[in-house]
Amino acid sequence: MYRTHNCGALRESYVGKEVTLAGWVQKSRDKGFIIWIDLRDRYGITQLVFDSERTPKTMMEQARSLGREFVVQVTGTVIERVSKNSDMPTGAIEILVSHLTVLNEALTPPFTIEDNTDGGEDLRMKYRYLDIRRNPVKENLILRHKVTIAVRNYLSNQEFIEVETPYLIKSTPEGARDFVVPSRMNQGQFYALPQSPQTFKQLLMVGGMDKYFQIVKCFRDEDLRADRQPEFTQIDCEMAFVEQKDIINTFEGLTRHLLKEINDVDVAEFPRITYDEAMQRYGNDKPDIRFGMEFGELNEIAQHKEFNVFNSAELVVGIAVPGANTYTRKDIDKLIDWVRRPQVGALGMVYVRCNEDGSFKSSVDKFFDREDLAKWAEITGAKSGDLICVLSGAANKVRGQLSALRMELAERLGLRDPKVFAPLWVVDFPLLEWDEDTERYHAMHHPFTSPKPDQIALLKTDPGAVKANAYDLVLNGNEIGGGSIRIHDKATQAMMFDYLGFTPDEAKEQFGFLMNAFEFGAPPHGGIAFGLDRLVAILGGQETIRDFIAFPKNNSGRDVMIDAPANIDAEQLKELSLILDTPK
Ligand code: AMO
Repeated sequence: MYRTHNCGALRESYVGKEVTLAGWVQKSRDKGFIIWIDLRDRYGITQLVFDSERTPKTMMEQARSLGREFVVQVTGTVIERVSKNSDMPTGAIEILVSHLTVLNEALTPPFTIEDNTDGGEDLRMKYRYLDIRRNPVKENLILRHKVTIAVRNYLSNQEFIEVETPYLIKSTPEGARDFVVPSRMNQGQFYALPQSPQTFKQLLMVGGMDKYFQIVKCFRDEDLRADRQPEFTQIDCEMAFVEQKDIINTFEGLTRHLLKEINDVDVAEFPRITYDEAMQRYGNDKPDIRFGMEFGELNEIAQHKEFNVFNSAELVVGIAVPGANTYTRKDIDKLIDWVRRPQVGALGMVYVRCNEDGSFKSSVDKFFDREDLAKWAEITGAKSGDLICVLSGAANKVRGQLSALRMELAERLGLRDPKVFAPLWVVDFPLLEWDEDTERYHAMHHPFTSPKPDQIALLKTDPGAVKANAYDLVLNGNEIGGGSIRIHDKATQAMMFDYLGFTPDEAKEQFGFLMNAFEFGAPPHGGIAFGLDRLVAILGGQETIRDFIAFPKNNSGRDVMIDAPANIDAEQLKELSLILDTPK
């Protein structure tokens, strides 16, 4: 038997007992006549003690020779510590070792295996197995496990069935590029890895499964960000005979359950706002509503003065930044530089200081008097002590810019408290979105999303205005889930493909299987998919999903530990028909 207990288990009540432990050497302190070693495993740390009075000399030497991360097994007696450490669960005891076995030696790790490591990102990724020994990473993986178990139990209790769908499929358009896999047996042909199991879950509804879920890997060849990985995991769900409100209620229930179970947080009914309202109030379809700083549109009062920048703008819009009147001129100049960075792209920023005595001082005092500025303050909700920041320009662009500024300032002001959870539903997304590059409409969610039935006629006259039965679940400024009610009849689906620029032949070739299925009694259905990585990260109080994935890819989509992607040899390429036979 390798161990009788783990390294987190022993307490004062075990004093006098003989135990065997196994684990890694976290660190040792050698005072000459006494040596302490911290022994670590997944469950905790237990202190081992060797002293020249009670430990044989050879074992003292053996203990002295142990390096960091050596794997050892010890047997000994649990004794009460002279100086107890109340910060450690096992801090009242130590093990007086009587047998010590080195199970494996270890090289000196390239970074310290401590909560605050000296290892940079790249090094930690290359030696991810060592990184996983550190508490913060380990805890994140344990959290992920708890979330997936809670999801499975909750959905299973609601009669959802987990069904696996294939990974080697034909491409499903979800807006990103596919990863493709060449087929050896079908020369010159490729499978695509699923961007999501979208069409399969719809076919499961046609198959009568009624309530489906799957915790499933999805693959998207897109540019990476903190909240995106090329392979990520969805909690993918679909239900038959439902309307939007049924789906929202079911998955609000799941989210509320997780917040309670994982974070012990009770959240009232989630607010529901439309996409248009989200864009108007926050400039963003995934607003962080943990704090205010809502947009105030100033066109009516700020235009038609002498200030031409505003007069020529489609939208003049501002936010009140709480307490920011303390910013110095230099701070504000830096903020102006910040909004002018190419990533944000504003041309400039107008500001108004709301002084404690009720007066205002603005960068446009030449054009606007006290009465004007008082109205700006009223519309943006600014109080004395606040700073109003105003941007202007083309409506869509300026909303995006002010939203970026709002998030940045909230971050700097500490308003994005990771312990506060503010979920909301954003509903009534547009069905289509204009793509400048291809100069045509694309499905905003995906081509299987149903337009609002009363708006189908509008498709002919004003396609961009048509709203869909599509919704996103937003948590603390992150889109953690999205879904829609689907089209379930062949005629509407064919019409959608037509609007999206597919010829009837292309539609048949790519989605004939789905349209055929719709002719065999497809029930009305809809669903949602949560981004599990994002959800877990936010429940863990963070936004970078990499830290919640055991073996993630870096920003260039590489796994630096196994060094993938990599070349394959000429034989393999030939076998897959990816290169032709070289002439002899
Ligand atoms: P959607 O594309 O909105 O919908 O994806 C659902 C959720 O998956 C997460 N997500 C990602 N997480 C990490 N890395 C990525 N690259 C990534 N891309 C998406 C997000 C997102 O909200 N089939 C539809 C769902 C449906 O209609 O039911 C779909 O995939 O949190």
